[in-house]
Amino acid sequence: MDKNYYITTPIYYPSARPHMGHAYSSIIADFFARFKRIDGYDVHFLTGTDEHGLKIQRAAEKNKINPLQFCDQISQTFRDLSKKLNLSNSDFIRTTEERHKKTVQYLWSVLEGNNDIYLSKYSGWYSVSDEAFYNEDEISEKEGSKIATLSGSLVEWIEEESYFFRLSKWQDKLLDYYEKNPDFISPKSRKNEVISFVKSGLKDLSISRKAFSWGIKVPNNPSHIIYVWLDALTNYISALDYPNTKSDLFKKFWPASVHLIGKDILRFHAIYWPAFLMAAKIPLPKKVYGHGWILSGEEKMSKSKGNILDPLDIIDEYGLDPLRYYLIKEVSFGNDGNISQDKLEDCINSDLANNYGNLCQRVTAFAEKNCESKIPSNIKFNDEDLIILNKFSENLSKLRVEIDNQNINYYISFIVQALFDSNKYFNDQEPWKKKDNKQRLDTIVYTSFEMIRKISFMLYPVIPNSALKVLSIFDLNFDDIKFDSIAKHDYLLNGKKINKINILFKKIEKTND
Ligand code: MSP
Repeated sequence: MDKNYYITTPIYYPSARPHMGHAYSSIIADFFARFKRIDGYDVHFLTGTDEHGLKIQRAAEKNKINPLQFCDQISQTFRDLSKKLNLSNSDFIRTTEERHKKTVQYLWSVLEGNNDIYLSKYSGWYSVSDEAFYNEDEISEKEGSKIATLSGSLVEWIEEESYFFRLSKWQDKLLDYYEKNPDFISPKSRKNEVISFVKSGLKDLSISRKAFSWGIKVPNNPSHIIYVWLDALTNYISALDYPNTKSDLFKKFWPASVHLIGKDILRFHAIYWPAFLMAAKIPLPKKVYGHGWILSGEEKMSKSKGNILDPLDIIDEYGLDPLRYYLIKEVSFGNDGNISQDKLEDCINSDLANNYGNLCQRVTAFAEKNCESKIPSNIKFNDEDLIILNKFSENLSKLRVEIDNQNINYYISFIVQALFDSNKYFNDQEPWKKKDNKQRLDTIVYTSFEMIRKISFMLYPVIPNSALKVLSIFDLNFDDIKFDSIAKHDYLLNGKKINKINILFKKIEKTND
């Protein structure tokens, strides 16, 4: 079985500082990367910045510095954010790097050599903010200006000489591919909009611009700049050394397991990208998953709307793991999700402090007093113990399948239920009343420790730092975390000393409580 896994985030425009939407895409990708690693996969996890195009050129002009210096600065803030978010990315690509430029120009020559590119003239609407061309029927009017109906961004009319990609030629092949690979566009709810767009008729795509200079030059015609989306999408293979298809990275990790993206850039990933790849005779990624938006109020969170919850401020105030947990759990994956500080605080108090933190504290405190700070040895499980312990082995394959379907909601609900079951079990079993039956007392403590261990293994992809801190109770570290060992219930070593840990999550005093 193929035990390699390649996951990518979109590469972010360094036109402004990173915000919660970017943090969201990255945290989710990190969750999958970490899960797959503990499930025995060799994982390649790519993120980076998308640095060319008119949008960046204009942003640099506004800041009165040259575009590369501008990108150096803001790309660094994205790199810093990756660290702050504790991303386990294997690579960080910038489209201004030489390795990337070479690949893009090579891909262009392949497409040209295969007769998929021709020179003509473009006249039509262009949105610099989206870096996208729009058809007449996708344009509306707002306060006297023309906007793209879909994104609401301003469009401008352009007329210039341009190279075109023969997108129309790939229409039927794309439809055929979607049909034969029903999971290629996920979630299902987004598939139909792509299919109907393709069915409505694909026009050839303008893939070069002449009106500005900030980008990768067309080979043999340097007055043209390669369209920023053709440039950007190629990052997924330039980071794997393409065109060197013999490189270890390319052999192991292409085609990608999943390109994780926001729903607003589905068209580029589910139509243009596979068409470019087909035309270049490169295998297609296995899946493109379009997640929903993080909303603030009812609107997409974005700089131009001024409704940003800054991830760095939130991390400074509450810590990283609470933010990761909150975004992964509370935003129903695939849909849009409304976030607020108030709900974040509720989530920290109820799930992290009351359920997880409290379970760890009370069981270890009880073991310190009653089991000489050791993992008990004299164990005899009864049915009640086995019922909660066995839920993990019973659900092991199901959990894997759901993760491969990007069903994060299932995974998290399973953890929340296990936390609830464990706290209830400890209350109902009343080990403090079993001092005259040491074997029973020991078994309850052992069972509870096993539940904490299993839950912490599962929480590792969600809140890596906190899960590792809890696992240090048992002297376990990253190398010990194997997903399939959640199925065992005799994992912890009998008689081993346990370590004390400090409080995991501080409860937040809420003024409106
Ligand atoms: N540079 C392109 C992607 C090229 S990928 C080959 C781009 N960059 S972006 O910085 O504008 O957006 C990057 C990602 O962040 C997109 O997937 C977008 O959907 C996501 N988000 C931006 N704002 C968002 C929210 N408010 N909520 C969730 N994700 C959103 O597009």
